[in-house]
Amino acid sequence: MAEFDFDKAPDHRADGSYRWEEPEGYGDVVGMGTADLDFPCAPAIRDALRPIVETNTYNYRANRRELEDALIAWYERNYGLTLTRDSLFAVPGTLAAVRLALGVLLRRPHAQVLVQYPCFGPIREMVKLSGARLLRNRMKLEDGRYEVDFEDFEEKVREERPAAFVLVSPQNPTGRLFSKDELARMAKVCAKYHVPVISDEVHSLMPHGGRKFTPILAVSPEARAVGIQIVSMSKGYNLMGLPKAFVAIENPDFRKRFAETIEAHSFGYAFNPFADAAAKVALEGKADAWLGEANAYIEANIAHAVKFLREEVPALVPIEPEAGFLLWVDCRALGEDPEKLGDLFRERARVSVMNGLDFGKAGAGFVRLNLAVTRANLDRALDGIRRAFGPKA
Ligand SMILES: Cc1ncc(COP(=O)(O)O)c(C=O)c1O
Repeated sequence: MAEFDFDKAPDHRADGSYRWEEPEGYGDVVGMGTADLDFPCAPAIRDALRPIVETNTYNYRANRRELEDALIAWYERNYGLTLTRDSLFAVPGTLAAVRLALGVLLRRPHAQVLVQYPCFGPIREMVKLSGARLLRNRMKLEDGRYEVDFEDFEEKVREERPAAFVLVSPQNPTGRLFSKDELARMAKVCAKYHVPVISDEVHSLMPHGGRKFTPILAVSPEARAVGIQIVSMSKGYNLMGLPKAFVAIENPDFRKRFAETIEAHSFGYAFNPFADAAAKVALEGKADAWLGEANAYIEANIAHAVKFLREEVPALVPIEPEAGFLLWVDCRALGEDPEKLGDLFRERARVSVMNGLDFGKAGAGFVRLNLAVTRANLDRALDGIRRAFGPKA
């Protein structure tokens, strides 16, 4: 029997939520944009945070060995990946970790960074803001599934020799969970041409349909040589407000340079005790049951939304995600201006979404829906979408 009730969630319109905040007059809009979850966290998280408040001390804290031990045990238990303490770093936030890794690797002027398209907006932005040029490996949509264009990938790596490849694994927004073989193929090409792979694995905690996620350092010896592996507990356990990302690097040169960057940013102390305690609960498996049920609830939401859209709103074509809680929807058959899609969803369907163009031109005509909402809110959103875009609209 289910232990946790995901049909109940706080009203996030009242708590300053980025996703639910709407201008006046839009109070009925269902928030399906930004990627966090509506549900309260696992009780084990609250139990770990309470004593910190009771003590009421927030002095400088060093990186605690027990947190590293928990991370090492977590990788071993879940992925059979053996890591050592000296390969590990902690950074306040996944995107911050990606940016720090880029800083370490972008040492030459006019550097290029390879990314797969469509691509999460903040990653595109950070590449541009770091002074590098984006090199796009566009994924191919074939029979409702995004595939890696390996030919293009290899050509770009070989011809352009990018300073880094930022891999988002599983991918956002397409929801593709790359197989170990696909990852090995990408890593092999990158290793051959000495291109480091920064692997953002923040969406890895919720694989669907019995699929198995493989962290980059567990893929192959080549991947181990070129990979910078970044994970956070945030997008499974809903800890976005307690940012904490873990970085693992086996390559001795990257590791040394990353350690210098951590030192240069003074990230080696002043750890947030709440973020550490919450991450530790997750890593030690104390909230595994909660994560399992949250994932099952979200998988059911995805199946429900996909079936509903296929049956009731044929102009919208959902791309079934293989991991995570984000649904990428092809709206091109609507024939609407891609710039205005987000506004249309808000105005007509009363649902706020991420517009596909936020993921680059490869996202034109698409939207991304966050399905980590209660079934009642999902149904409200789907009703609005049918009213707005269904055959009789
Ligand atoms: C691919 C990817 N990386 C990073 C993040 C953000 O992670 P953090 O809040 O830990 O920086 C997101 C959030 O949506 C994401 O989709």
